[in-house]
Amino acid sequence: MTINRIVVLGAGVSGLTTAYQLSKNASNQITVAAKHMPGDYDIEYCSPWAGANYFPVGAFDSDNGKWEKDTWPMLRELAQNIPEAGIHFQVYIRKKDEQRVAGQRSAGSMKDPWFKNMLPNFRQVPKDQLAPGIDSAYHFTSVCINTAIYLPWLVGQCRKNGVVFKRAVVKHVVDAAYAHHGGKADLVVNCTGLSSRSLGGVTDSSLCPARGQVVVVRNDPGFMCMTSGCDDGDDEVVYMMTRAAGGGTILGGSYQKHNWDPLPDPSLAIRIMKRCVEVCPSLVAEGKGIEGLDIIRHGVGLRPLRENGPRVERENINGVWVVHNYGHGGFGYQASYGCATTAVKLVDEALQQKDKAKL
Ligand SMILES: Cc1cc2nc3c(=O)[nH]c(=O)nc-3n(C[C@H](O)[C@H](O)[C@H](O)COP(=O)(O)OP(=O)(O)OC[C@H]3O[C@@H](n4cnc5c(N)ncnc54)[C@H](O)[C@@H]3O)c2cc1C
Ligand SMILES: *[C@@H]1O[C@H](CO)[C@@H](O)[C@H](O)[C@H]1NC(C)=O
Ligand SMILES: *[C@@H]1O[C@H](CO)[C@@H](O)[C@H](O)[C@H]1NC(C)=O
Repeated sequence: MTINRIVVLGAGVSGLTTAYQLSKNASNQITVAAKHMPGDYDIEYCSPWAGANYFPVGAFDSDNGKWEKDTWPMLRELAQNIPEAGIHFQVYIRKKDEQRVAGQRSAGSMKDPWFKNMLPNFRQVPKDQLAPGIDSAYHFTSVCINTAIYLPWLVGQCRKNGVVFKRAVVKHVVDAAYAHHGGKADLVVNCTGLSSRSLGGVTDSSLCPARGQVVVVRNDPGFMCMTSGCDDGDDEVVYMMTRAAGGGTILGGSYQKHNWDPLPDPSLAIRIMKRCVEVCPSLVAEGKGIEGLDIIRHGVGLRPLRENGPRVERENINGVWVVHNYGHGGFGYQASYGCATTAVKLVDEALQQKDKAKL
């Protein structure tokens, strides 16, 4: 049997999902090498900070929309049948005011979303039931992922399939090839997120952070909720979601491009809490304001935003085949299986070319 030695660089949701999908083929002998692993909370490691839920942002006919579409069946399956993955269904309430759409979404995807026939229980809220200041709203069922359970679950699935995990800080693609546990690797998969901006090889300057600040609380509104924008500026947003299995509720947030600040901004935290209580008074006991919130922690994550969308491509760098899978902005979870499927295809193609070159 052919053995393909593969290094997956990065252990965020992109690296772990790609390694998991690759590990289903017994020909692949995989090492995941990363500076940060599940369990770490660091500003250079985005994945633990995410909400994370499924609410597509890509246009229907874009690569991004396709990756998101291709990811839903797996997330649904995990929520339905695999409790140990830490994903559950929640009703999503989307409140919209027509004037503005903050953050990453395109106005088109908001008015008449393509996923209305894909996600369960989609329905518009009747006009006479809308809260003051809200022009329209809809409900649907989606999932919320407890990242503290889900990332270790992915590690476990990989280990069951023989994947080896290793701490390593890699400076250049050539070093990555030598991080394999069985000798020099045939191929490297690059899942380094925002750090791809400064890594040696080909530095990608079209990456920038979109800073997301959150407040994690013990309060439970019982559903997910999001609005199209808020009055506190175009780079602030309003959303809340309760993680599966006692994970707490994430209150958000912000979408601050080019802002690298790793520390929670206390006044932004107050604005986040005020907006959430205003949009959803049932978050706190009756009559209470933000004093009614029971805070677990404040957090900041940097979404790895790439100008023209994620880079899922293959490339030969100094004789080493590299498949890139980075730059997933604010949708790394909801596009994870779609992107990993594309990456696996590129890996297979690159390995075939390599075999041909040998003959
Ligand atoms: C507040 C917030 C809310 C979010 N909500 C959602 C949501 O609801 N739904 C959703 O789908 N997405 C959401 N996201 C986005 C999502 O979190 C990201 O798209 C995703 O985590 C990116 O994952 P990644 O694996 O590409 O990168 P990362 O998680 O950053 O992982 C990068 C990995 O590469 C390693 N690495 C980097 N450089 C090197 C090196 N030189 N050598 C070795 N290892 C290296 C790191 O150590 C790490 O292991 C949210 C993000 C934030 C901040
Ligand atoms: C597994 O990998 C081998 C070797 O690269 C390849 O020939 C085969 O098509 C792969 N199998 C599947 C099911 O993808
Ligand atoms: C990952 O991709 C980035 C962007 O192209 C590049 O700078 C970096 O060298 C790559 N790293 C590896 C190990 O291939």
